[in-house]
Amino acid sequence: MQKVRKAVIPAAGLGTRVLPATKVLPKEMFPIVDKPAIQYIVEEAVASGIRDILIVTNRGKNIIEDHFDRAPELEQRLFDSEKNNLRDQAIDISNLANIHFIRQKESKGLGHAVLCAKTFVGDEPFAVLYGDDVIVGEEPACAQLLKAYEKFEKIIVGVKKVPEDEIFKYSSLKVKRINNGIFECVDMIEKPKASQVMSCYSIQGRCILTPDIFDVISETSPGKGGEVQLTDAIRTIARKSGVLAVEYSGKRYDIGSKIGVLEACVEMGLVHPEIGEEFKSYLKNLIRVC
Ligand code: UTP
Repeated sequence: MQKVRKAVIPAAGLGTRVLPATKVLPKEMFPIVDKPAIQYIVEEAVASGIRDILIVTNRGKNIIEDHFDRAPELEQRLFDSEKNNLRDQAIDISNLANIHFIRQKESKGLGHAVLCAKTFVGDEPFAVLYGDDVIVGEEPACAQLLKAYEKFEKIIVGVKKVPEDEIFKYSSLKVKRINNGIFECVDMIEKPKASQVMSCYSIQGRCILTPDIFDVISETSPGKGGEVQLTDAIRTIARKSGVLAVEYSGKRYDIGSKIGVLEACVEMGLVHPEIGEEFKSYLKNLIRVC
């Protein structure tokens, strides 16, 4: 069995659901209290044992590269003012992993962004962590999917059950339970109409793919929204040979949506070691006033 050593983080979307913030600021760089969303995602990949990471970016997203680079002037200033903890933190970010970058020249969809990783991936299985899905929990979501991949050696999609009245925003999967939290999936559809819903299980931000996906993506026509959908490519393989769906544990925050950004900031703020208690009393007072 080939071990999964590489991860791809697509971060080249236009982020239209969180405009105007994303006019110049990539949503992947939105801070959740004091850490950009994409750093959580890189840390999840690293905690799952992955060291080689490709971030797919586009025009105007250079600050993602800067964030994972050294910052000599800042480091010196922190050193001079004896803030060595902060200096070490800044340096650690640049040593998290071997981070590579490639540009998706046009935002043609998530499937197309994954296709940009073809040369980086080569002939190996790889993880995909969507750049605007922050998942927080005891065991990294990516590691949970990797465990299933090591056992079954098939494409694994990370799923969650979503409320029935919201499934139209996501994908819907045809699933059959194999055992606790693991399902066989033989069909799926992106952003279904009510009559097309197969279940409330939806792909949520993580998957483990095999390199045969690249040929399939190349042959996949643009789907919903005129974009090359990764779901459509995975569907082709699911229909042919089946894929597995793993219902991972952990809370997912959709940083590509306004409510997701707020939920992440509030919930992570409440457990933040430095300001958690202060923030909790602020919220309590605010609720009293409301
Ligand atoms: P989304 O569909 O949530 O991102 O893709 P979007 O296109 O930015 O969303 P809108 O405009 O608000 O509807 C999930 C992930 O895939 C990346 C995004 O950056 C996000 O992290 N993506 C999406 C790409 O890398 N390239 C694309 O062409 C589209």
